[in-house]
Amino acid sequence: MTSVVLAHAPAHVRARSSSPAPHAILQPLRGGQMLVVREESSRDIPARERLLDAAFGPSRFLKTSEALRAGRLPARGLALSGFHDGELVATVRLWSIHAGGVPALLLGPLAVAESRRSLGVGAAMMEAAITRASALGHKAIILVGDEPYYRRFGFSAGLTARLDMPGPVERERFLALELQPRALDDAAGMIVAAGQRAGARRRSAEHRRNAA
Ligand SMILES: CC(C)(COP(=O)(O)OP(=O)(O)OC[C@H]1O[C@@H](n2cnc3c(N)ncnc32)[C@H](O)[C@@H]1OP(=O)(O)O)[C@@H](O)C(=O)NCCC(=O)NCCS
Repeated sequence: MTSVVLAHAPAHVRARSSSPAPHAILQPLRGGQMLVVREESSRDIPARERLLDAAFGPSRFLKTSEALRAGRLPARGLALSGFHDGELVATVRLWSIHAGGVPALLLGPLAVAESRRSLGVGAAMMEAAITRASALGHKAIILVGDEPYYRRFGFSAGLTARLDMPGPVERERFLALELQPRALDDAAGMIVAAGQRAGARRRSAEHRRNAA
């Protein structure tokens, strides 16, 4: 198994598999239980939306990050669902952006069902997301979230000092992780959405089918 180097990441997150699991992967939780993490399917969407409503409430659609997600698809292979005892208990998605001219990912929202918190589910989802993003060749991840939570995965506000969000953001919650050393060295200016527009992937699949 090869590994990739995560600049700035603490030792426990530095060595990661370079091969993304195409199907379900098992992530250990506290107490010896396991979380099943796999790519989100369309059948997961109602449960994912209920989970996000419960975690963030209706104001989730007013967040500045939402402006970078609205009308876009998540980056390919980077919408993940977490299952415990067969129930969808966690979600995380990553979105393609240009961060001051540098291609990167925006992570969020991350949410864990209240009944399954503090078991390591959030950490397991973050590990799975960062590992997959690395293995898929992405160079940096940006998010807006609580630094005391995300610092354990190597995120820091220092890396976003020369970046701006397209709306209000608390600088101490505006964080980044470099998956490749110095990936954000030249990142300065506005973050803009760069993901595929919703509907475009379906249209191009239909186009290929019609052309075949
Ligand atoms: C934040 C969240 C994803 C963590 O999920 P989780 O599965 O409980 O996370 P883990 O089990 O990996 O880690 C739990 C630890 O993180 C701590 N923690 C949780 N949220 C935290 C926060 N916002 N800031 C600092 N620490 C936090 C817990 O106190 C716990 O500490 P412990 O290990 O000392 O007991 C979950 O609480 C959640 O969905 N919250 C609502 C939505 C949200 O806030 N999303 C993230 C945006 S910042």
